[in-house]
Amino acid sequence: MPKFIISGQKRLSGRVSVSGSKNSALPILAATLLAQGHSTIYEVPQLLDIQNMKQLLLSLGAEVDEKETALQICCKKPIFDVSSYETVSKLRASVLVMGPLLARCGRVKISMPGGCQIGARPVDLHLKGFLALGAKISQGHGFIEAKCKNLVGTKIYLDFPSVGATENLMMAASLAQGQTIIENAAVEPEIVDLANYINLMGGKIVGAGTDTIRISGVSELNGQTHSVIPDRIEAGTYAAAAAVTRSKIQIDNVVPGHLKPITAKLREAGIEVEEGDSHIIVNASEKLKAADIKTLPYPGFPTDMQAPYTSIMSVADGTSMVIETIFENRFLHLPELSRMGAHIKIEGRTAVIEGAKKLSSAKVKVSDLRAGAALVVAALAAEGDTEISEIEHIDRGYCNIESKLASLGANIERTD
Ligand code: EPZ
Repeated sequence: MPKFIISGQKRLSGRVSVSGSKNSALPILAATLLAQGHSTIYEVPQLLDIQNMKQLLLSLGAEVDEKETALQICCKKPIFDVSSYETVSKLRASVLVMGPLLARCGRVKISMPGGCQIGARPVDLHLKGFLALGAKISQGHGFIEAKCKNLVGTKIYLDFPSVGATENLMMAASLAQGQTIIENAAVEPEIVDLANYINLMGGKIVGAGTDTIRISGVSELNGQTHSVIPDRIEAGTYAAAAAVTRSKIQIDNVVPGHLKPITAKLREAGIEVEEGDSHIIVNASEKLKAADIKTLPYPGFPTDMQAPYTSIMSVADGTSMVIETIFENRFLHLPELSRMGAHIKIEGRTAVIEGAKKLSSAKVKVSDLRAGAALVVAALAAEGDTEISEIEHIDRGYCNIESKLASLGANIERTD
């Protein structure tokens, strides 16, 4: 199994460019199923999750041509059956094809995605929305089936501003009869990116990025060209790498506005962040200070940055409190950080971190994508050579992480 060997305490310098957003590309690739003709999506990150989404689209009858970081997709007559548990369990985001298939085929059968390391990952809010749009839902033997000849627009109030449910319902409502209003909708930048793409295809969505999204259904959508926004979590992860190595680096291809909750917290922790039009300069020459976080839906501090952030707090001056409110089991990286010398106490969804003078190398194991990012960041700060195993989790969400870190001067090697 591949591993990373990272020899820590190397100062970083230079520039790194962020790839397209995984969490924007996945729903946008699912949304290509809504269109009659070809769509070309640029800035698609080359990741395991994207490969799995590509395989899923092929299995649904789409033609998919890959050209570097662009994917050309056309699905004249999508197949409604997504019942392969093997496909769906490899990619939880498979659930995002439900809205497009229900809208295009009037039917979708999908293997229940099941949970993952970070939580149960229910889809009840997605299903409640489909029911409100007129679908009949049946569940059994590990499958979910939704059927509806013609979806009819309605008002939907989301009990929680779920990113996936907002995306799925926005896609289904785009081809429904009449108007749909989604209230208490998620407002993440990835929602706006998806809405922009659907509107390019002829959709009529207003209010994306606010908690009330209005969708006027149209009879058909036509393929379009679209570029995915940069990955704000990848950008935050490289900022964390600069922080723990007390470095000054430039991070290119970002939307500074999307990074505000992360940038604000880094500054509170004593890290200088200078913003350009499409880059930031992170300078961590000063002492790192403890600064509490509580993860919240956007524009709160993003849950996907919680794990890498705990690695910064592990070597900051003082004691910090980290509260994870979004997922019920997103502290799996903390015991591994403790093995590297971090002083951490966990009480339910709260972790108390007392900054250590330094971390020391150890053999550690990755449990999930962002936990892996946290261990890479911690290894960059640690004295000695850290061996990180089960790094396939990291490959799901970070494009060429070792070559990007090596280009900044990190001593990182992938061994098989
Ligand atoms: C998206 O997941 C992201 N994934 C996640 O990124 C991200 O952490 C999450 O949004 C929150 O920002 C993609 O975009 C592919 P949610 P999603 O629905 O849509 C509960 C990463 O590391 N919930 O906003 O699944 C759920 O259990 C991944 O890149 C319900 O209860 O997130 C969770 O507690 C991890 N019922 C909370 O809402 C539902 O029907 C947030 O879930 C749906 C969700």
